[in-house]
Amino acid sequence: MNQALQAVLENSGNIVFFGGAGVSTESGIPDFRSADGLYHQKYRYEPETIISHHFFMQNPGAFYDFYRDRMICPSARPNAAHRALARLEAGGRLKAVITQNIDGLHQMAGSRNVLELHGSIHRNHCMDCHRAYSLQDILKEQGVPRCSCGGVIKPDVVLYEEPLDADVLERAVFYIEQADVLIVGGTSLVVYPAAGLLRYYRGNKLVLINQSPTPADHQASLLIREPIGKAFEGMDEPE
Ligand code: APR
Repeated sequence: MNQALQAVLENSGNIVFFGGAGVSTESGIPDFRSADGLYHQKYRYEPETIISHHFFMQNPGAFYDFYRDRMICPSARPNAAHRALARLEAGGRLKAVITQNIDGLHQMAGSRNVLELHGSIHRNHCMDCHRAYSLQDILKEQGVPRCSCGGVIKPDVVLYEEPLDADVLERAVFYIEQADVLIVGGTSLVVYPAAGLLRYYRGNKLVLINQSPTPADHQASLLIREPIGKAFEGMDEPE
């Protein structure tokens, strides 16, 4: 457990968390921009091309090959960071988790107020009749999953060239504006509009937990350069 982090958390009743793929790497899900991240692995197309709207529309088969292979990790389970954040919320001290992740691990750890800026692998819909489908419906098939009406099923994840959900964004701004402590963890803060949300924070207790430098490091009142699961270890266990 990181003692400085614990001291900050113990003295606040209005904490908001903003996270990215680095929160789930200790659960076995690769992030995007670390050396071993998705964007540094060789594919026929650039990964950031594959997870774009126009690529999905033109090559749904190649999209699903990459998506099933690299963006869905059914065996992943919450780590100490997910569990600690859920405990802070249960104790009434953390008001919201705002995540760029689509893996659902915060909810699996027990967090209830989770704002998924980039959607979720657990929500899918038919592009023709809009019928909803589960992650299992996507995993149990090969190739392009199709609805009973014949339409193509699309994951409810925000692809490049697609807008973020306005209501989710608005709620994220609301919580960040109200926050006493803002913890930012496991994100390179290079993708907008998500990264731009930090400008709404009006407090002076920005905690940044990231293994590599970010553009917001100079704004942090507490900068922690260690694995985020390790930093929260011990705070995820019942007292
Ligand atoms: N503990 C702390 N930091 C970590 C850990 C860890 N265990 N593992 C990785 N990191 C850090 C990395 O050093 C990196 O700076 O987390 C950051 C992850 O950054 P990215 O891989 O860029 O992921 P993220 O910031 O979530 O990307 C944002 O980009 O492609 C889009 O939609 C995708 O939501 C994603 C968005």
